[in-house]
Amino acid sequence: MSVIVARGLTRTFGTGEAARRAVDDVSLSVEAGEVVLIFGPSGCGKSTLLALIGGLDRAFSGSLSLFGQEVAQLSDAALSRLRGEKIGFVFQAFHLLGHLSVIDNVMAPALFSSHDRHEPEVRARASQMLERVGLADRASSSPAELSGGQRQRVAIARALLHQPSLLLCDEPTGNLDRKTGEQIIELFAELHAELGTTIVIVTHEERISRLADRTLDMVDGKLAIGGAA
Ligand SMILES: Nc1ncnc2c1ncn2[C@@H]1O[C@H](COP(=O)(O)OP(=O)(O)O)[C@@H](O)[C@H]1O
Ligand SMILES: [Mg+2]
Repeated sequence: MSVIVARGLTRTFGTGEAARRAVDDVSLSVEAGEVVLIFGPSGCGKSTLLALIGGLDRAFSGSLSLFGQEVAQLSDAALSRLRGEKIGFVFQAFHLLGHLSVIDNVMAPALFSSHDRHEPEVRARASQMLERVGLADRASSSPAELSGGQRQRVAIARALLHQPSLLLCDEPTGNLDRKTGEQIIELFAELHAELGTTIVIVTHEERISRLADRTLDMVDGKLAIGGAA
Protein backbone atom coordinates (compact mmCIF):
# COMPACT_ATOMS: atom_id res chain seq x y z
CA MET A 1 0.00 0.00 0.00
CA SER A 2 1.16 3.52 -0.71
CA VAL A 3 1.43 5.55 2.44
CA ILE A 4 2.21 8.78 0.60
CA VAL A 5 1.41 9.67 -3.00
CA ALA A 6 2.24 13.22 -4.07
CA ARG A 7 1.76 14.49 -7.61
CA GLY A 8 2.94 17.93 -8.61
CA LEU A 9 2.95 18.94 -4.96
CA THR A 10 3.75 22.67 -4.69
CA ARG A 11 3.83 25.07 -1.75
CA THR A 12 4.20 28.76 -2.49
CA PHE A 13 5.04 31.41 0.08
CA GLY A 14 4.39 35.07 -0.66
CA THR A 15 2.39 36.55 -3.50
CA GLY A 16 3.05 38.43 -6.75
CA GLU A 17 6.67 39.39 -7.28
CA ALA A 18 7.64 37.90 -3.92
CA ALA A 19 6.07 34.48 -4.57
CA ARG A 20 8.50 31.69 -4.02
CA ARG A 21 7.96 27.96 -4.38
CA ALA A 22 9.45 26.32 -1.28
CA VAL A 23 8.21 22.95 -2.59
CA ASP A 24 8.10 22.90 -6.35
CA ASP A 25 6.25 20.24 -8.34
CA VAL A 26 7.27 17.30 -6.21
CA SER A 27 6.05 13.84 -7.16
CA LEU A 28 6.79 11.05 -4.76
CA SER A 29 5.39 7.72 -3.65
CA VAL A 30 6.32 6.03 -0.42
CA GLU A 31 5.22 2.47 0.19
CA ALA A 32 4.37 0.92 3.56
CA GLY A 33 7.48 -0.21 5.41
CA GLU A 34 9.95 1.88 3.42
CA VAL A 35 12.63 4.07 4.93
CA VAL A 36 13.09 7.10 2.68
CA LEU A 37 15.71 9.72 3.19
CA ILE A 38 15.36 13.17 1.64
CA PHE A 39 18.69 14.84 1.56
CA GLY A 40 19.38 18.47 0.75
CA PRO A 41 20.97 21.72 1.90
CA SER A 42 19.47 24.17 4.34
CA GLY A 43 16.66 26.18 2.77
CA CYS A 44 15.87 23.70 -0.03
CA GLY A 45 12.36 23.06 1.31
CA LYS A 46 12.73 19.91 3.42
CA SER A 47 10.75 21.09 6.45
CA THR A 48 8.07 22.56 4.21
CA LEU A 49 7.71 19.25 2.38
CA LEU A 50 7.59 17.31 5.64
CA ALA A 51 4.85 19.59 7.00
CA LEU A 52 2.80 18.87 3.85
CA ILE A 53 3.22 15.11 3.98
CA GLY A 54 2.53 15.18 7.70
CA GLY A 55 -0.82 16.87 7.14
CA LEU A 56 0.27 19.94 9.11
CA ASP A 57 0.01 22.34 6.18
CA ARG A 58 -2.71 22.01 3.59
CA ALA A 59 -2.04 25.20 1.61
CA PHE A 60 -0.61 23.30 -1.34
CA SER A 61 -1.40 22.83 -4.98
CA GLY A 62 -1.09 19.54 -6.80
CA SER A 63 -2.36 16.36 -5.20
CA LEU A 64 -1.46 14.55 -2.04
CA SER A 65 -2.87 11.35 -0.70
CA LEU A 66 -2.03 9.91 2.72
CA PHE A 67 -2.99 6.31 3.48
CA GLY A 68 -5.16 6.28 0.37
CA GLN A 69 -7.10 9.41 1.31
CA GLU A 70 -6.93 12.62 -0.71
CA VAL A 71 -5.92 15.32 1.75
CA ALA A 72 -7.85 17.97 -0.21
CA GLN A 73 -11.06 16.04 0.38
CA LEU A 74 -10.62 15.67 4.13
CA SER A 75 -12.10 18.14 6.60
CA ASP A 76 -9.66 19.74 9.04
CA ALA A 77 -11.04 17.48 11.75
CA ALA A 78 -10.62 14.35 9.64
CA LEU A 79 -7.08 15.32 8.68
CA SER A 80 -6.14 15.98 12.26
CA ARG A 81 -7.65 12.65 13.29
CA LEU A 82 -5.66 10.86 10.59
CA ARG A 83 -2.52 12.63 11.76
CA GLY A 84 -3.18 11.74 15.38
CA GLU A 85 -3.80 8.10 14.62
CA LYS A 86 -1.20 7.38 12.01
CA ILE A 87 1.64 9.87 12.01
CA GLY A 88 4.43 10.53 14.50
CA PHE A 89 6.87 13.45 14.32
CA VAL A 90 10.44 13.82 15.51
CA PHE A 91 12.14 17.22 15.25
CA GLN A 92 15.68 18.51 15.45
CA ALA A 93 14.97 20.58 18.56
CA PHE A 94 13.20 17.75 20.48
CA HIS A 95 10.34 20.05 21.63
CA LEU A 96 10.02 18.58 25.12
CA LEU A 97 8.06 20.42 27.79
CA GLY A 98 10.48 21.49 30.50
CA HIS A 99 7.98 21.53 33.35
CA LEU A 100 6.90 17.92 32.79
CA SER A 101 8.77 14.76 33.76
CA VAL A 102 10.16 12.52 31.05
CA ILE A 103 7.26 10.07 31.22
CA ASP A 104 4.68 12.86 31.24
CA ASN A 105 6.31 14.25 28.09
CA VAL A 106 5.91 10.87 26.40
CA MET A 107 2.27 10.71 27.48
CA ALA A 108 1.39 14.34 26.81
CA PRO A 109 0.04 14.06 23.24
CA ALA A 110 -2.24 11.19 24.19
CA LEU A 111 -3.60 13.01 27.21
CA PHE A 112 -4.22 16.21 25.29
CA SER A 113 -5.74 14.70 22.18
CA SER A 114 -7.62 11.57 23.11
CA HIS A 115 -11.24 11.75 24.17
CA ASP A 116 -11.45 8.36 25.80
CA ARG A 117 -8.02 8.50 27.30
CA HIS A 118 -7.36 5.96 29.96
CA GLU A 119 -4.43 7.30 31.88
CA PRO A 120 -3.09 4.09 33.51
CA GLU A 121 -3.06 2.41 30.11
CA VAL A 122 -1.32 5.35 28.47
CA ARG A 123 1.20 5.46 31.30
CA ALA A 124 1.94 1.77 30.90
CA ARG A 125 2.51 2.24 27.18
CA ALA A 126 4.71 5.30 27.77
CA SER A 127 6.72 3.28 30.23
CA GLN A 128 7.18 0.51 27.67
CA MET A 129 8.32 3.00 25.06
CA LEU A 130 10.82 4.54 27.48
CA GLU A 131 12.18 1.11 28.16
CA ARG A 132 12.41 0.51 24.42
CA VAL A 133 14.53 3.63 23.90
CA GLY A 134 16.73 2.75 26.87
CA LEU A 135 15.45 5.33 29.34
CA ALA A 136 13.29 3.32 31.76
CA ASP A 137 15.35 4.59 34.68
CA ARG A 138 14.81 8.26 33.74
CA ALA A 139 11.00 8.30 33.71
CA SER A 140 10.71 10.75 36.57
CA SER A 141 13.66 12.94 35.56
CA SER A 142 13.20 16.40 34.15
CA PRO A 143 14.25 16.87 30.50
CA ALA A 144 16.81 19.44 31.72
CA GLU A 145 18.69 16.63 33.46
CA LEU A 146 19.15 14.69 30.22
CA SER A 147 21.77 14.86 27.49
CA GLY A 148 20.78 15.83 23.93
CA GLY A 149 20.77 12.21 22.81
CA GLN A 150 18.57 11.21 25.73
CA ARG A 151 16.17 14.04 24.98
CA GLN A 152 15.85 12.89 21.42
CA ARG A 153 15.13 9.36 22.70
CA VAL A 154 12.30 10.79 24.80
CA ALA A 155 10.96 12.59 21.72
CA ILE A 156 11.12 9.34 19.75
CA ALA A 157 9.29 7.46 22.53
CA ARG A 158 6.63 10.19 22.44
CA ALA A 159 6.30 9.96 18.66
CA LEU A 160 5.89 6.18 18.87
CA LEU A 161 3.41 6.16 21.76
CA HIS A 162 0.35 5.73 19.55
CA GLN A 163 2.16 3.28 17.25
CA PRO A 164 2.11 5.44 14.15
CA SER A 165 2.28 3.81 10.73
CA LEU A 166 4.38 6.72 9.48
CA LEU A 167 7.22 8.40 11.34
CA LEU A 168 8.38 11.77 9.96
CA CYS A 169 11.73 13.03 11.16
CA ASP A 170 13.05 16.54 10.51
CA GLU A 171 16.84 16.63 10.97
CA PRO A 172 16.60 14.21 13.91
CA THR A 173 20.36 14.19 14.52
CA GLY A 174 20.92 17.86 13.71
CA ASN A 175 21.50 18.93 17.31
CA LEU A 176 23.59 15.91 18.30
CA ASP A 177 27.28 15.13 18.18
CA ARG A 178 28.41 12.48 15.76
CA LYS A 179 28.49 9.53 18.14
CA THR A 180 25.12 10.34 19.68
CA GLY A 181 23.70 10.88 16.21
CA GLU A 182 24.91 7.42 15.20
CA GLN A 183 23.16 5.92 18.23
CA ILE A 184 19.90 7.60 17.27
CA ILE A 185 20.23 6.25 13.72
CA GLU A 186 20.84 2.80 15.19
CA LEU A 187 17.68 3.18 17.26
CA PHE A 188 15.64 4.09 14.15
CA ALA A 189 17.03 1.02 12.40
CA GLU A 190 16.04 -1.23 15.31
CA LEU A 191 12.59 0.29 15.61
CA HIS A 192 12.03 -0.10 11.90
CA ALA A 193 13.10 -3.75 12.03
CA GLU A 194 10.81 -4.44 14.99
CA LEU A 195 7.75 -2.39 14.13
CA GLY A 196 7.94 -2.08 10.33
CA THR A 197 7.06 1.61 10.62
CA THR A 198 7.35 3.61 7.41
CA ILE A 199 9.95 6.30 8.03
CA VAL A 200 10.67 9.51 6.11
CA ILE A 201 13.69 11.45 7.29
CA VAL A 202 14.80 14.82 5.93
CA THR A 203 18.34 15.87 6.65
CA HIS A 204 21.44 17.54 5.34
CA GLU A 205 23.64 14.99 7.09
CA GLU A 206 25.06 12.31 4.84
CA ARG A 207 25.68 9.88 7.68
CA ILE A 208 22.04 8.93 7.97
CA SER A 209 21.91 7.49 4.45
CA ARG A 210 22.89 3.94 5.38
CA LEU A 211 19.57 3.59 7.14
CA ALA A 212 17.52 4.27 4.02
CA ASP A 213 16.02 2.02 1.37
CA ARG A 214 15.99 5.06 -0.88
CA THR A 215 17.71 8.43 -0.80
CA LEU A 216 16.23 11.34 -2.72
CA ASP A 217 18.01 14.61 -3.31
CA MET A 218 16.19 17.89 -2.87
CA VAL A 219 17.42 21.11 -4.44
CA ASP A 220 15.53 24.42 -4.60
CA GLY A 221 12.21 22.84 -3.73
CA LYS A 222 12.50 20.06 -6.29
CA LEU A 223 13.26 16.39 -5.90
CA ALA A 224 16.00 15.37 -8.28
CA ILE A 225 15.20 13.19 -11.29
CA GLY A 226 14.61 9.67 -10.03
CA GLY A 227 12.73 11.04 -7.05
CA ALA A 228 9.39 10.25 -8.63
CA ALA A 229 8.76 6.59 -7.90
N1 LIG B 1 6.25 30.22 6.72
C1 LIG B 1 7.06 30.63 5.76
N2 LIG B 1 6.89 31.83 5.16
C2 LIG B 1 7.70 32.25 4.16
N3 LIG B 1 8.73 31.54 3.69
C3 LIG B 1 8.96 30.33 4.24
C4 LIG B 1 8.14 29.82 5.31
N4 LIG B 1 8.62 28.59 5.65
C5 LIG B 1 9.68 28.36 4.85
N5 LIG B 1 9.88 29.40 4.00
C6 LIG B 1 10.92 29.48 2.97
O1 LIG B 1 10.87 28.31 2.19
C7 LIG B 1 12.17 27.86 1.87
C8 LIG B 1 12.37 26.44 2.37
O2 LIG B 1 12.39 26.44 3.78
P1 LIG B 1 12.48 25.10 4.63
O3 LIG B 1 11.42 24.17 4.18
O4 LIG B 1 12.49 25.48 6.05
O5 LIG B 1 13.91 24.53 4.19
P2 LIG B 1 14.83 23.44 4.90
O6 LIG B 1 14.00 22.71 5.91
O7 LIG B 1 15.31 22.56 3.78
O8 LIG B 1 15.97 24.18 5.52
C9 LIG B 1 13.13 28.86 2.49
O9 LIG B 1 13.49 29.79 1.52
C10 LIG B 1 12.31 29.49 3.58
O10 LIG B 1 12.75 30.78 3.86
MG1 LIG C 1 14.33 22.45 7.92
